[in-house]
Amino acid sequence: MSEDVSRGTGATIEDYFLEDRRFPPPAGFKDQAVVSDPSIYSRADEDWVGFWAEQADDLDWFKKWDEVLSWELPYARWFDGGQLNVSYNCLDRHVLAGNGERVAYYFEGEPGDSRSITYRELLEEVEKFANVLKGLGVKKGDRVAVYMPMIPELAVTMLSCARIGAVHSVVFGGFSPDALRGRILDAEARVLVTADGGWRRGKAVPLKEGADAALAGTPSVDHVVVARRVGGSTPMTPGRDHWWDELMDGSDPVAGGAPDEHCEPEVMEAEDLLYLLYTSGTTAKPKGIMHTTGGYLTQVAYTHKVVFDLHPESDVFWCAADIGWVTGHSYIVYGPLANGATGVIYEGTPDTPGKDRWWSIVEKYRVTILYAAPTAIRTFMKWGVEYPEAHDLSSLRVLGSVGEPINPEAWIWYQEKIGRARCPVVDTWWQTETGAIMISPLPGITATKPGSATFPIPGTGVEVVDDQGEPVTRGGGYLTLTRPWPAMLRGIYGDPERYKETYWSRFEGRYFAGDGAKIDDDGYLWLLGRIDDVMNVSGHRVSTTEVESALVDHPSVAEAAVVGAKDETTGQAIVAFVTVRSGEPTDDATGESLRAHVASLIGPIARPKTVVFTDELPKTRSGKIMRRLLRDVAEGRALGDTTTLADPGVVDEIRRLAEVSPGEE
Ligand code: PRX
Repeated sequence: MSEDVSRGTGATIEDYFLEDRRFPPPAGFKDQAVVSDPSIYSRADEDWVGFWAEQADDLDWFKKWDEVLSWELPYARWFDGGQLNVSYNCLDRHVLAGNGERVAYYFEGEPGDSRSITYRELLEEVEKFANVLKGLGVKKGDRVAVYMPMIPELAVTMLSCARIGAVHSVVFGGFSPDALRGRILDAEARVLVTADGGWRRGKAVPLKEGADAALAGTPSVDHVVVARRVGGSTPMTPGRDHWWDELMDGSDPVAGGAPDEHCEPEVMEAEDLLYLLYTSGTTAKPKGIMHTTGGYLTQVAYTHKVVFDLHPESDVFWCAADIGWVTGHSYIVYGPLANGATGVIYEGTPDTPGKDRWWSIVEKYRVTILYAAPTAIRTFMKWGVEYPEAHDLSSLRVLGSVGEPINPEAWIWYQEKIGRARCPVVDTWWQTETGAIMISPLPGITATKPGSATFPIPGTGVEVVDDQGEPVTRGGGYLTLTRPWPAMLRGIYGDPERYKETYWSRFEGRYFAGDGAKIDDDGYLWLLGRIDDVMNVSGHRVSTTEVESALVDHPSVAEAAVVGAKDETTGQAIVAFVTVRSGEPTDDATGESLRAHVASLIGPIARPKTVVFTDELPKTRSGKIMRRLLRDVAEGRALGDTTTLADPGVVDEIRRLAEVSPGEE
């Protein structure tokens, strides 16, 4: 792998090792670095399958595997014959090792309430809630949908599912009822776990009402569990809906008494399904990405250790993503807990009550490792350095970045102003499909370059290829993965054909990630963003086609084309080109109504920043919309934040270009 990216120059990855520890930990810090030995790269290269087996050995297995890997492209089975339980690995084994009093989570509510939960307490909650789920009829293999704010009960629900072998499908709390319904239907979930609401920007967001709207038309759901968070009146359907606390203390009128305190962890096969997580693809229908048990846990635990140079006994790890996305699944819940680390869960937004909220959290909990998205970092840059400067951030040791390309300016600002020029920055590339980090520097080992994700982590195989699928050693191309990896998706739920077609058909024998990348003259990897019809807004994936179908669902719209245009803060912004049905107005009010319509069908993250009304959309002779051209138009002009009417000049230009280059796209 390391030879692959540097092939042709004679250089190996060892040439990029730091000679010295350029970023020494703060004085008094006990140095027990887990990755300070650079030979990790060569060991992984010599025997990558054996290397992964070594990582899997760090987990507790009820029964050891018979075979590390069986690989029949595009289907991998890792640690076949092995048996384990994810919640046992995340909880019981730490308590049994005498670490039950270690804090698993510091929970910081947006209004300022806080709670710390030890490993022992978390295990107790999970055992009880696992029994609650069983009491509601949930069995091994059943799907449980989860629609919650960022509260500890969300992690408890996931771990309880894992304990009894049920499959969770967490739907981001910012998604609309329609989006939730589609995911419940696709997975045929039996139970939905939600909350009365969550706090965001000082307001109680009523989640349960959204859940009720979603549940109209989901025959598979028999029971709904509602955690109390915001209080006030909440509509409850008798017989179907239950309060979390009443189920837990035995006072629920329907369920029979208090749940048992103990719940034996289900013995799971390494390849049993752990969870589904829906992500946007290039069509309007989201894909249910399947992650299994042994390989997934192996890679999330390993990457969480080596990429962040984790010391579980002393670190406080804060991944500021939402658990509704894969980042939160892997680096708030499964990776950190498998490693017995202490984590932070923060419920709200960074500007509530003031723009220094994050930095007050870092100071309060003495956070040592912070993992955040470039959009957040760029937002903090805009707000000004006075907010972080007002706080003691000296506990920080390692800074992570994830979700979108980080521009060198933001990288440097992060390193200097947050890391106070002391902390290495690790830019980590991965995807919902990869399940865990694939490309990243290792702190203390890899010399970094602002803006570059540097090299594949030990164990993975990455190559950039040209149109013909030939590896390029310098310059740009398509990012591909050349070997199976333990946390890889095992498929798309209910759609094996789409799995093969989407990931394995573009280049023979390779997984195509959908991203463009380039290798610079020093052999460093730079991620260039998506090259398919997927946008990346604030580090969140949004499908152009999904937004287009939401737009044409609006009665005024005849046709719509959506592109992601470069945006200084959010990476990309959604720009919609719309032609209306004849006689329909093209005023600001229509634009606003279209934007609201998209937000209500998908969720606020999919709301177009700009709607451009145009008489016609540029098309090839075969009738395909020329999105590339629209992207140029969107990026070449300051279109403003809201609705714009494309001026005739632009439309003429679009038409002219469309005519001179037929067959494009
Ligand atoms: O385009 C890449 C971008 O995010 C996509 C994956 O999105 P999602 O599945 O939602 O997972 C996001 C969190 C892992 C990728 O195809 N991406 C992710 N990390 C980076 C990135 N782009 C550049 N640099 C990164 N570090």
